[in-house]
Amino acid sequence: MRSEIKRIVIAGAGLMGASMGQIFARKGYSVTLYDIAPEGIGKARELVAINQRALIEQGGINKAQSDETLSRMSYTMNMEDFERADFVIEAIVENMAVKLDFWEKASRAVSEDIVLATNTSGLSITEIAKAVHEPERFCGMHWINPPHIVPLVEVIGGSRTGEKAIGIVRDLALSVNKHPVMVRGDPKGFILNRIQFAILREALHIVESGYAAVKDVDDVMKYGLGMRYACIGPFETADLGGLDTFYRISSYLFADLSDAKEVPEALARLYQEGAFGTKTGRGFYDYGSGGAEQAIAKRDRDFLKISKCLYGNSGRNNEEGLI
Ligand SMILES: NC(=O)c1ccc[n+]([C@@H]2O[C@H](COP(=O)([O-])OP(=O)(O)OC[C@H]3O[C@@H](n4cnc5c(N)ncnc54)[C@H](O)[C@@H]3O)[C@@H](O)[C@H]2O)c1
Repeated sequence: MRSEIKRIVIAGAGLMGASMGQIFARKGYSVTLYDIAPEGIGKARELVAINQRALIEQGGINKAQSDETLSRMSYTMNMEDFERADFVIEAIVENMAVKLDFWEKASRAVSEDIVLATNTSGLSITEIAKAVHEPERFCGMHWINPPHIVPLVEVIGGSRTGEKAIGIVRDLALSVNKHPVMVRGDPKGFILNRIQFAILREALHIVESGYAAVKDVDDVMKYGLGMRYACIGPFETADLGGLDTFYRISSYLFADLSDAKEVPEALARLYQEGAFGTKTGRGFYDYGSGGAEQAIAKRDRDFLKISKCLYGNSGRNNEEGLI
């Protein structure tokens, strides 16, 4: 299996693909962004320009470095360009049928010895691998939005993934200063989305029960849990709080938490109204004209401040936990 990687193809030049491309290009890889839609390519160019501007403004990089990054990025709608790739990562729409169709073609358009990965948020790697030619080289490489700032990458093996492929993807993540975490057993949603959606389910339950307003729940996360979780995880938190206390709270609280098996009403309603959040201008909040762009820019500014503060210039935490 090819471990020397110079040329990377990213399929799906959307929100995630465009941002991942910049990370690889910045670290010297030659990156080709592939999309089926011309609008996808156009939007990707715009996104890359916005992200690069934000990085320059925040002092993460200078103009010359940004130009160098951009010079290593190219765009295509032609799958023949996969032929010269040393690694392909797919970040197309989160739909099993579309991903299967893509991989059926793409895994035959590349060299047989290169590693292939999907950025799915939580679809089964084992299931997607059924469409992949030589599936032992296929795994999940799940980046977190916005990938050009957030350090975590989950690396997920499916039932047929070889250890060699997992190792190559892990090393690739380290080479761009990301913090890889291995996920075993191919669980739906991997680790991050299992935790994220457990939080969202309980947040919706709190709002639907009338215990707090949407903004107050967001404030509890931002000013309480969020600040803590940027530095310590749930197990470190429990150790620091005292497992005796955490045991006692668990014994009366777990039974009271939401265990909803369906999408909660508060989310389903907005979905049916086409209120998808910043991408449509309305979600749990109303963004009005220009508000969505401002919200995204503020998030990236704040994330970059935290990143700089906690991880310095490397963008990655080199200290391994509290002990
Ligand atoms: N948005 C997030 O927060 C996030 C985070 C982590 C992982 N992901 C995952 O990353 C993937 C992409 O998500 P996104 O938010 O970037 O989506 P997006 O809608 O912004 O971009 C998807 C792109 O894929 C293109 N596309 C669709 N079908 C294609 C095909 N058959 N071949 C080539 N290109 C195709 C579309 O034209 C579009 O440009 C999904 O699997 C998603 O679950 C998303």
